[in-house]
Amino acid sequence: MSSPPDTASMLGTVPFFSGLDAKKRKSLTSEGKELAYKAGDFIVREGAMGVGFYLILDGKAEVRKGDRILATLGRGQFFGEMSLIDELPRSADVVAVSPTKCWALTSWAFAGLVKTNPEMALHMLKEMVKRIRAAQSSPTS
Ligand code: CMP
Repeated sequence: MSSPPDTASMLGTVPFFSGLDAKKRKSLTSEGKELAYKAGDFIVREGAMGVGFYLILDGKAEVRKGDRILATLGRGQFFGEMSLIDELPRSADVVAVSPTKCWALTSWAFAGLVKTNPEMALHMLKEMVKRIRAAQSSPTS
């Protein structure tokens, strides 16, 4: 899969990839695909089986469960990892709330990425723990 030349440098500015050297980032870039969404587009649907992992390159997306907004994610943040890790259906909807550009990886490329880049896996775990803590401290409705 070919990528525009600026994707690797764009990914380099995102904390998620900051532990990778330029060579690794470049080879990784070619494994993913850029996808564009309009405001209101569902990127991920609750209950569907997960086939992709997404990193937001630009724009904003809401994580929604029913009528609750669990989080608003922006540039440099990721989603879609849960379903790929436990192989269960998507836990929530993720909806673009402005024109949004994502970098998406297939589930098998994601598995390879996590296995071969412990610094990235650790970054992801830290973010997941942060989300669990935020969910635990938010009021239940
Ligand atoms: P997944 O279950 O594959 O698809 C929906 C995604 O929404 C999920 O992976 C996470 O990436 C994200 N998500 C689910 N719950 C939360 C939350 N409480 N805060 C932030 N992101 C979440």
